[in-house]
Amino acid sequence: MKIIDGKELSEIIKTEIKAEVDGIRARKENIPHLAAVLIGDNPASRSYVRSKVRSCEFVGFESTLIQKDSSISEAELLDIIRELNENEDIDGFIVQLPLPKHIDETKVILAIDPAKDVDGFHPINFGKMAQGLDAYLPATPFGILQMLERYHIETSGKHCVVVGRSNIVGTPMSILLSRKANPGNCTVTLTHSRTKDLGAEILRADIIIAAIGIPNFITGDMVKKGAVVIDVGINRIDDASRKSGYRLVGDVDFDSAAEKASFITPVPGGVGPMTVTSLLLNTLKASKLKV
Ligand code: GUN
Repeated sequence: MKIIDGKELSEIIKTEIKAEVDGIRARKENIPHLAAVLIGDNPASRSYVRSKVRSCEFVGFESTLIQKDSSISEAELLDIIRELNENEDIDGFIVQLPLPKHIDETKVILAIDPAKDVDGFHPINFGKMAQGLDAYLPATPFGILQMLERYHIETSGKHCVVVGRSNIVGTPMSILLSRKANPGNCTVTLTHSRTKDLGAEILRADIIIAAIGIPNFITGDMVKKGAVVIDVGINRIDDASRKSGYRLVGDVDFDSAAEKASFITPVPGGVGPMTVTSLLLNTLKASKLKV
């Protein structure tokens, strides 16, 4: 069994991006600039956004953080998005999800200029992705594709079972892995809360993508010998022995699944760091498309 080390891989890719930015700076070209909008005080969201801003600093991007109280109105947030769409200094931006309940996430995503939508959430980018056209790929699925590619994991002709059908992970992942591309060319089963005998479906998989948000849900008895296990879950569970009072666990029960898997991603240090890398790659792409 091999661990797919997302932390290490993300450092390697970030170092590659940094080298490219050093070249951009030396040639006095446009330095990529990412803006992040963070609403409210959700601890997980704050931590993700902090990590995104820190990564921008590491690679030499410009970054702007716009932080607002959860009492912000939908109209005020839409105004901020309009300003970011029009601001020529900003190459790409993200609005960290989830948003407070009184704000319509769909309306917010639709307001983002697709050319600056480096999260790949706008239906224009989603539609282009689905048709195999050039687009900003959503960060988490894009990070997983990079892991599969850099670890030389064969996907062609394999049976992939995606667990969870969210718009930001499960659904786009199922599309990307079934595309005629490398990584891709999988036969994909997209499973969800209404799937009958989910354990039996997962047991048929050569590649498992776990994105359901239930701690330790997939156990070793659901994993076929030699399967590749990609764990997207980042669940906080109480742990009084930690200073923070919690620890992070995935959607996969790591110890029992690792006994069966050929490759497996840990949590933390697996898919999580790769999503930030994807965002940087999309921002770099946005800044190049602008000139
Ligand atoms: N919330 C959870 N994942 C993401 C992500 O990739 N982008 C944004 N904007 N919000 C998220």
